[in-house]
Amino acid sequence: MDKGHVLIFDTTLRDGEQVPGCKLNTPQKIEIAQRLEELGVDVIEAGFPISSPGDFKSVVEISKAVTEPIVCGLSRGVKKDIEVAAEALRFARRPRIHTGIGTSDHHIKYKFKSTREGILEWAVDAVGHAKRFVEDVEFYAEDAGRTDNEYLAQVCEAVIKAGATVLNIPDTTGYCLPDEYGAKIKYLVDHVKGIENVIISAHCHNDLGLATANAISAVMNGARQIECTINGIGERAGNTSLEEVAMIMKQHPRLQVTNRINTKLLNPISKLVSDRMGMQVQPNKAIVGSNAFAHSSGIHQDGVIKHRETYEIIDPLDVGVDESTIILTARSGRAALAFRLHKIGFPVTKLELDEIYEAFLTQADVKKEISDEDLREIMAQVPQKQEA
Ligand code: KIV
Ligand code: ZN
Repeated sequence: MDKGHVLIFDTTLRDGEQVPGCKLNTPQKIEIAQRLEELGVDVIEAGFPISSPGDFKSVVEISKAVTEPIVCGLSRGVKKDIEVAAEALRFARRPRIHTGIGTSDHHIKYKFKSTREGILEWAVDAVGHAKRFVEDVEFYAEDAGRTDNEYLAQVCEAVIKAGATVLNIPDTTGYCLPDEYGAKIKYLVDHVKGIENVIISAHCHNDLGLATANAISAVMNGARQIECTINGIGERAGNTSLEEVAMIMKQHPRLQVTNRINTKLLNPISKLVSDRMGMQVQPNKAIVGSNAFAHSSGIHQDGVIKHRETYEIIDPLDVGVDESTIILTARSGRAALAFRLHKIGFPVTKLELDEIYEAFLTQADVKKEISDEDLREIMAQVPQKQEA
């Protein structure tokens, strides 16, 4: 694989589906998995098979329904979990078991009531057990973000020896700052024997709004897989958003990385996931929010009408949005009004525009937004005034 290639690991159907109230049924999951395959994701984390019979069934059916991506099943570092994950993945053309254990002192002490030595042994056993069923085993060091780097490196080295093919370094609690998380990845690159033979994966949560920044920082320091979700959904404040990392990599060639995402499919899949999960996308969400390409202040509208690139760094067509929109509000100027009038079939002269603009402002001051219908009404009134 090309050294600058970043694999996109989508966990919408596992971490994303952990969002309260967003449960999907198997046909919905298959539909999303097939769209993810079209989008170009490299790995689909299809579920956590031991968690419920429904999730088990979904992993089985997704394994049958897609061919190109690796299909991954999550398990705790527990023998039974691993066996059930292997069973659920039996139809996958390219199966991966994702197993692991918490490595931070918080997890070791409070969750496992164990010791660093005990956890290290546990991690090695889990990977060894998973290797009995599949070649491709991803190990997650849960809460790696708060794990001491030296100890994390020891765990990573041991699981590589046990056969792990991918090392997931999750910032489970969304705690790290981008430079800190990047430095953690760099520390592993510099200190773990055999790391050049495995893929380092960034799995970042958004508790401080840093999930995307942290994932990119990880890539800048050697990570070559990003775990992410459509619309950034996921446990608590969510995960790194797929559409954000895909567009950051596209817009910043100096990162010198590539990925397989067909960005033109980002908006359609965002809508699909939002619809099937019944979870609205916040309007100001980067890339896929309804306001991501909507211009509403007069100064910006004037600029965008003159040349799109004055206020847009992304061509909306590149992410599957037909065109940017000019929203008419009391903050809009004459340029925006003339533009919208022209679009609905009312080309107006500069002289006419002054008068129409007055009528428009009167309406706009009492309404949040002026629609095409409102404009037609204004136009029906203004000419009469002109004739009087
Ligand atoms: O956030 C996390 O640590 C996880 C692991 C189970 C990979 O989701
Ligand atoms: Zn997670």
